[in-house]
Amino acid sequence: MTVIAHLSDPHFGTEIPAVVDALQAALHALQPDLVIVSGDMTQRARKHEFRSARNFLDRLKVPAIMVIPGNHDIPLFNVVARALTPYRNYCDAFGAPCGMWTDTDTIVMALDSTNPARHTRGKLRTGQLADLASRIPPSMTPRLRIACAHQPLHTAWLEDQHEVLIDAGNAAAAFAGHDIDIVLSGHVHVPLVTTTREAFPELRRHFILSGAGTAVSHRTRPGAPNSFNVITTCPESAVRSVKVAIWRFNPESGHFAVHQVTQFHLGASGWEPV
Ligand SMILES: [Fe+2]
Ligand SMILES: [Fe+2]
Repeated sequence: MTVIAHLSDPHFGTEIPAVVDALQAALHALQPDLVIVSGDMTQRARKHEFRSARNFLDRLKVPAIMVIPGNHDIPLFNVVARALTPYRNYCDAFGAPCGMWTDTDTIVMALDSTNPARHTRGKLRTGQLADLASRIPPSMTPRLRIACAHQPLHTAWLEDQHEVLIDAGNAAAAFAGHDIDIVLSGHVHVPLVTTTREAFPELRRHFILSGAGTAVSHRTRPGAPNSFNVITTCPESAVRSVKVAIWRFNPESGHFAVHQVTQFHLGASGWEPV
């Protein structure tokens, strides 16, 4: 069994200390194999914000951490830094974007969808999508392939549809073509756990979409409190199944707790909810 905690959009610089503490406690209890943060680590890409983000992740003392940049991890108001060294503070804290994590059956591949020439929109280049297969180590035959980009392929709320990846349909087709099982994203601060069946009915092999809300920032949306997702996989079982849970922060209890669990099975046309 593999447990992956999927966090997003902590926007350090706007974090709520009590929620940070509650998240640390929840993750300590969960003991995930991997914590992945799908971008917007900071609010304004400042050094001290990245330092806070890095310190938080270090304090978790989990076996593995992966991060990818979001549009907020590139300076916005410092136009010189945005033009000349857009990723300097990000790289100082986390190293070059686009990491990878594997265990015996599972591979997680990070994809950087940001570009200093764009403000909020994200795009995956044709080359990034074509390279997915070559990133899998030759010695490995993964039974679960996970990709992660900051902007989503699809959103829970119709009003956020303009925030999806540019050429989302092409990206979805490429993921399906590479037998990707789950795509992780953030950006809109509203969680989404579903498959591609509604947004991209034409795909030959459907995959799971795990969109995470903002983990610790006060930049929540109405009706969407701080949250994160937990992906539990059983790749070794005969029937391939994955559980994706949304954990929500409850201000009254001061804790995160499971809000919703969706189980998926792999069928003839891809992943479907049970
Ligand atoms: Fe964000
Ligand atoms: Fe974002």
